[in-house]
Amino acid sequence: MDMFVIQGGTRLRGEVKISGAKNAALPIMAACLLTNEECVIRSVPDLADTRHLITLLESLGARVRRDESDALHIKVEDESISLADYESVRRMRASICVLGPLLARRGKAEVSMPGGCAIGDRPINLHLRGMEALGAKIHLDGGNIITESQRLQGTDIFLGGPFGSTVLGTANVMTAACLAQGRTVIEATACEPEVIDLGDFLNSMGAKVSGHGTPRIIVEGVDELHGTDYEIIPDRIEAGTFMIAAAITNGELILKGCRTEHLMALIDRLNLIGVEIERIDKDDTVRVSSARRLNPVDITTQPYPGFPTDLQAQLMTLLCLADGNSIITEKIFPDRFMHTAELNRMGAMLRKEGPTVVVQGVRELIGAPVMASDLRASAALVLAGMVARGQTEVLRVYHIDRGYEHIERKLNPVGAQIERVKEND
Ligand code: EPU
Repeated sequence: MDMFVIQGGTRLRGEVKISGAKNAALPIMAACLLTNEECVIRSVPDLADTRHLITLLESLGARVRRDESDALHIKVEDESISLADYESVRRMRASICVLGPLLARRGKAEVSMPGGCAIGDRPINLHLRGMEALGAKIHLDGGNIITESQRLQGTDIFLGGPFGSTVLGTANVMTAACLAQGRTVIEATACEPEVIDLGDFLNSMGAKVSGHGTPRIIVEGVDELHGTDYEIIPDRIEAGTFMIAAAITNGELILKGCRTEHLMALIDRLNLIGVEIERIDKDDTVRVSSARRLNPVDITTQPYPGFPTDLQAQLMTLLCLADGNSIITEKIFPDRFMHTAELNRMGAMLRKEGPTVVVQGVRELIGAPVMASDLRASAALVLAGMVARGQTEVLRVYHIDRGYEHIERKLNPVGAQIERVKEND
C-alpha cells in the first residue's frame, strides 16, 4: 500500500490543468451498455475508479481501449451476461450505475446489494423504486438484487428521498427510461452538472432527454441508441480542491479547465473567507489567490447548486486555520466526518455534535501520521499536510487514487513536496 510523505509549509504557485469529471465519467461509461455500436469518450480521467469500471464493463461483454489521445473506446460485443458481482460493487459503490443500462437493454440486471461505506449508509432504495415504476420485477437472492423486465414502460416517477435528490439514482432511472416505451417524467431529480452531462451524452446517442439540470426530467423513449463521440466536463471537485490548496498555502494557482459556473457555492464561501477567484479569460481559466487572514464561515452541504458534500472535508481543513469559529453541517451524508479525528491529531480544534462540526480556528497545524478513510477525507489530509509545520504521513492513499488523477504529479510541479512511498518502507 502507498502512503504520502508531505513536507509542509511550501507555497503553491503556477498552473494546473483540471482533469475530466470522475462522477460524470462513471455513469456515462456505464451508459455505453445501451448500444452495441462503439462509443468514444474523451477526457475520462485515469483513476482507480474508472479503471475498475472498465474491468466491470469488460466482464459484461464490452471491449474497452484507451487510445493515444487518451480517449476511451467502448464497444459491446457480448450481451449475454448481466451480473455485477459482490466484488465489483464492494470495491466501488458506483458499480450500481450499470443497473439501469443493463435492465433497459438486456432485460435483466443482477447487481450485488451495496453495503455501508466509510461515509455512512448508502441505500439504493430510490434506484429500485424507479426501476419498479418503469415495470421491472425486483427480488433479492444471495445478496444480489435481481431486476427483470420485458420492455420498460414510460411512467411518472417521484424520486425524492429523505436527504433530497439522488445523483446516481437519477442517472440510473434517466438512463433506463431512454429505451422504455413512451414518455417518462421523473420528479425531484438531482440537478448536478454530472447529471446534465449524462443527459447530453444520452442525447448524443439518439436519446430524447429534456429538463436535465432541473428537478423534472422528461424522457421520450426510443427503440434504439447509437454510438457517439463525446467529451465529458472537467471535474468540479478536483478544481474546488485545488482552489482550496491555493488558499491554504497562501499561494496563487491558475486553474485551466475550471468551470466557475459549477462551483458557485464554493466560490461564495471562499470569497467570504478572503480568497480571491478571478476568471482570466473566456476559456475556463481562473486565478486563485488568498489573503493571509482567513475569515471563519458557516457551511451546510446540500444537493447542487448548494455546497457539495464532496468538498466539505477539504473546506474544513481550510477553516481549521481561520481567525475564529466556523460551523459545518452535513445534510447529505450525516456521518461523513471521519477526517475530524485525524485533523485533530494535527492540532485542529474540531468538535463534532451530530451532523455538525464546530471548527475553532487555530494558528497552525502540526505534521503527524494520519490515516485516510475515504476519497475526500484523504484530500483534506493532503491539504493539511501541505500547510502543517514539519512532516505529515498520509496512510492508505489508495483512497485518493480513486478520485484524483496523479494528485502529487499535479501539485509537486507547482510547489508541493509530496512523496509517494510504500507504507512499510
Ligand atoms: N439515498 C437514499 N436512497 C437511495 C440513494 C441515495 O436515501 O436510493 C440518500 C443517500 O444515502 C444520501 C443522499 O440520498 O444521503 C444522496 O446520495 P446520492 O444518491 O446522491 O449519492 P450517490 O449518487 O451514491 C454521488 C457521488 C458521490 C457524492 C454524492 C452526493 C458518484 C459516483 N458519486 O453518489 O461522490 O458524494 O453523489 O453528491 O457520482 C465522491 O466522489 O467522493 C463521492 C462520494
